[in-house]
Amino acid sequence: MSTNDFFRIRLSTIRPLEAIPFDIFIYIDSKMINYLKQGGIMKTEKVVSLHQKDTGESFYVGMKDKQLYRDYVKSSMNSVTISNNDKAAILRESSIALLEDLFENPDVGQALMDSKPIVSDLLKFMEIAPESISNLISLSGHDFYTYNHSFDVSIYSLGLGQALGFDKKTLEELGQSSLFHDVGKRNVSLDILCKKGPLDENEWAQMRMHPQFGLKILNEQPNISEAIRAACYEHHESWSGGGYPQDISGHEIHPFGRIVALTDTYDAMTTQRSYNVPMKPSEALTMMKEKLSGRFDPDMLKAMYSVLFKMKAAS
Ligand SMILES: [Fe+2]
Ligand SMILES: [Fe+2]
Repeated sequence: MSTNDFFRIRLSTIRPLEAIPFDIFIYIDSKMINYLKQGGIMKTEKVVSLHQKDTGESFYVGMKDKQLYRDYVKSSMNSVTISNNDKAAILRESSIALLEDLFENPDVGQALMDSKPIVSDLLKFMEIAPESISNLISLSGHDFYTYNHSFDVSIYSLGLGQALGFDKKTLEELGQSSLFHDVGKRNVSLDILCKKGPLDENEWAQMRMHPQFGLKILNEQPNISEAIRAACYEHHESWSGGGYPQDISGHEIHPFGRIVALTDTYDAMTTQRSYNVPMKPSEALTMMKEKLSGRFDPDMLKAMYSVLFKMKAAS
């Protein structure tokens, strides 16, 4: 068995004092070791102490049990004993673990297919527990990992899409395209992505290629919609022009490109990167409104206020 036969899970998705319907493995010294047998039970103290050590790297479930794991997480979502805030945390953790998997999957077409249930789960949760949506967003202070970033951008984009009155099918497509907006970063070197400190000119030039890289990756897939391609290729365009790679403006930019431009900037500003201090939500909004307003579709920027206001009011 190779590590490809397993996928990572977060222990926070495991409920203590209940029989667990799949084997859990840990990865030690380049070996997968069976940590808990199917049907086993974890004591509360054990789960709590392991949570502290859980870096998201070390706990795995076999690929053959992927559906079992998904069903298990789903049953947490239906439980009446788990609070909506805890459900939000479980949904986030399980989605991020699956996303890590998706982003490392060379088959982007398959990954896009697999992302559909994640988006449906998110939409369902946003419908049943609107007051807990802000708990889906990670606390600021985490590092700027592509998975966390993509997930957060997806939540904000879905919120914005709802505020703009999109129907369910459009929202599903928006959620997926937001998850994959930075897929082109696969082709940017890790040294640049993780560099501590500002990028030099050459590094910046490579970074700015990620929309093109992304489009190329998506174009290799059959049946990728225009909207998904646009979110990837046009999310660094600017409403008033001057963006990249095409330097298009206004309604020339696909609505999904305009949405992700907004939610992507907001998330980048409010998130800890390796070299900056995150802004408070109110500071980021003021900055977007006063200094960067020309970059965004004004109607969408307005709708974004109401989304963030609702999330803040609910948290
Ligand atoms: Fe980007
Ligand atoms: Fe991004």
